[in-house]
This record gives sequence, structure tokens and C-alpha cells, in this order.
Amino acid sequence: MASSSIVGVIFSLVLALKYVALQAEARAFFVFGDSLVDSGNNNYLATTARADSPPYGIDYPSHRPTGRFSNGLNIPDLISKRIGSESVLPYLSPELRGQRLLNGANFASAGIGILNDTGVQFINIIRMYRQLEYFQEYQRRARALVGVDQTERLVKGALVLITVGGNDFVNNYYLIPYSARSRQFSVPNYVKYLISEYEKILMKLYKLGARRVLVTGTGPMGCVPAELAMRSTNGGCSAELQRAASLFNPQLVQMLKGLNKKIGNTVFIAANTQQSHLDFISNPQAYGFTTAKTACCGQGPYNGLGLCTAASNLCPNRDLYAFWDAFHPSEKANRLIVEQIYSGTTKYMDPMNLSTIMTLDARA
Ligand SMILES: *[C@@H]1O[C@H](CO)[C@@H](O)[C@H](O)[C@H]1NC(C)=O
Ligand SMILES: *[C@@H]1O[C@H](CO)[C@@H](O)[C@H](O)[C@H]1NC(C)=O
Repeated sequence: MASSSIVGVIFSLVLALKYVALQAEARAFFVFGDSLVDSGNNNYLATTARADSPPYGIDYPSHRPTGRFSNGLNIPDLISKRIGSESVLPYLSPELRGQRLLNGANFASAGIGILNDTGVQFINIIRMYRQLEYFQEYQRRARALVGVDQTERLVKGALVLITVGGNDFVNNYYLIPYSARSRQFSVPNYVKYLISEYEKILMKLYKLGARRVLVTGTGPMGCVPAELAMRSTNGGCSAELQRAASLFNPQLVQMLKGLNKKIGNTVFIAANTQQSHLDFISNPQAYGFTTAKTACCGQGPYNGLGLCTAASNLCPNRDLYAFWDAFHPSEKANRLIVEQIYSGTTKYMDPMNLSTIMTLDARA
């Protein structure tokens, strides 16, 4: 009698301690995708797709370039801030070891797409299948550190962000001179093909343990300064690329719904970044921007031609520009996008926003 109640007390104590440990463990964060979310992996690679020289990083806390394609913080940094954790390190960073490994990792690499043949001109970048291999390698390293069970809990409890697809258009199908893909597929068939390949990537991510995955669509690709400079005749967005985005994004949402249904759980959450972005493109002043057409850093029409370098035009106040360079939002725009991800309505987040996700226990 006495001994069984002691066992009972010890048992509840162990449960209580486990609960406390779980509460104390911050949620890990894993990031996959392209330059919109790369936090510096490409700095470790022999590639031309990099943001490692000034004025990139001019508004970052260190005021130095870090490999982020932003004047300051990028979307993953701002998500980390919003959920009260530190920014996650690029997977290739030598500092990603020991306890820091348990915060998660960023596997994203500028220039990549859903397809292996996207961004071939950038040579040595971490394509999607390779990012997933690195995720497996990460889990082996975490197991060596904290064991099998805690690693599984960490991965299943983690928040995951994936941002990919834009380059499959701008750095593949619509690459001038015309790519092999544009001879192989009509735009609607290319979109179908991309969605089916993306689905395989997401299922792989699920099989590797991801349980809460924010999936962003492409932005309004036809409205970025680079496209305005190259394709626009009257200052309007490129109709071709806008058409591609308007085919891709809704099919992505449908595909995610289908996956959740198949799995029987809300694993994949669609972030309608096209909508958030369109909001400030259609009414920049309402969001405190003086322009959503001209990039802060660049040259040529809309500062949309070539790269942002130390020799480019540079605006004095980055917060007044929706676009930092020819393709990437400013930190200020990233903040607005992350606010929608965190607390937006179902118009922006389908079926729930990040603040709701954070109240759920994904470890179940
Ligand atoms: C991409 O390349 C990798 C490595 O060569 C290969 O395993 C994978 O199947 C390829 N993916 C597609 C969609 O072709
Ligand atoms: C999103 O977030 C806000 C604030 O955190 C919350 O009140 C709202 O109910 C959430 N969901 C939707 C669908 O708007």
C-alpha cells in the first residue's frame, strides 16, 4: 500500500517535471526555401546568388551584410521575434552546434525553386531535395545531442516555414532567352506540374516529422521592380507574370487543403503573401510607403535593373519603400507581411493564423 502510493507520487512528479520541461522548451523553427527566407546559407557556397556586400544589411542590428536579401531583418527573423525566440542560424553556419542546434535551423538558399532546373545559372545552391537531406542530417545531429525521443518531440513540435516557387517563374520559365520549360509547357500546364512537384516536397517534409508548416504562395511576381523595368510598358504590373501568380497561388491552397484532408490534420497552413503584398502595391500610402514600384536600391527604371551594389542608387529612408531591391521586400514590408501571418484573418491565413497555431500543442 505504502510503496504503491510512493510510486504514485514519484510517477506524478515525473509527469509534472516533464510538463515543466516541455513548457520551458521554446518551439524550434525550421525554414526552407529561396532568397525571400535565406538568412545566409549562400555565403558559404560558390554562387553568384548572394547578399554579402553593402548596402545589404544597412539596417540590420550590426549594419553589416549577413546574406539576408533585405536592408535589415527578413521574414524568418520577424517570425522568430513574434514567437519570442532568437533568429535561427543558417544551416551551413559553423556556429550552429551544441544547444543552439535545438532552436532549429534555416536551410533556405537564394536562387532555388521547386524544380531542380530552376536557378541553374547560380550553379552551386542548395536545391530543395538537398535542403530536405540537410533536414535529415540535422535530425541525426540532434539525436546525438539529446536522443531519439527528444529529437522527435522537437521536430514534431516545431514551426516550419517554406517559401518557394517564385524562381520557377522568374528564374526558369520566364528567363530570357526562353527556357526549355516554356517550350515544353503552356503556363497552365507548367503551373500544374509545379504544384504536383511541390506536393511531393511537402509530403517528404511531413514524413520527416514536420507537423505545422506555413506555406507562402508567390508574391505578386509581375509587380516587382525588376519586372516593371523589363516588361512593363505603362508602369503597370507584367500581365504574364500576374497571370502565372493568379494560377499558381489558388492551386497551391487547394493542394494544401487536399494534403491536410489526406493526413487528417491541419499540417499545412497557407499564407496568402500575394494578398498582403497586393494590399500595399494598390495603396502604398495606407501602409506608410511613398512607393511600392521603385526599389530603394538599384539602377535603371524603377531601380529594377541589375543588382543592388555599393554603386547603386540608395534611398535614405528604407521604411518609405515597399521594395528594398529589384525582387525583395524591405524590412518594413516584411514586418507588415509577418503581422498578417501572425494575426491576419482567413483572407490572409488559411485555415488559421500563427497566433492560433501557437496556442495549439503540435506535439500530440
Ligand atoms: C532533383 O535532383 C535530385 C538529385 O539528383 C534527385 O534525387 C531528385 O529526384 C530530383 N528531383 C526532381 C523533381 O527531378
Ligand atoms: C487571428 O489572430 C487574431 C489575433 O491574434 C485572432 O483574434 C483571430 O481570431 C485569429 N483568426 C482569424 C481567423 O482571424
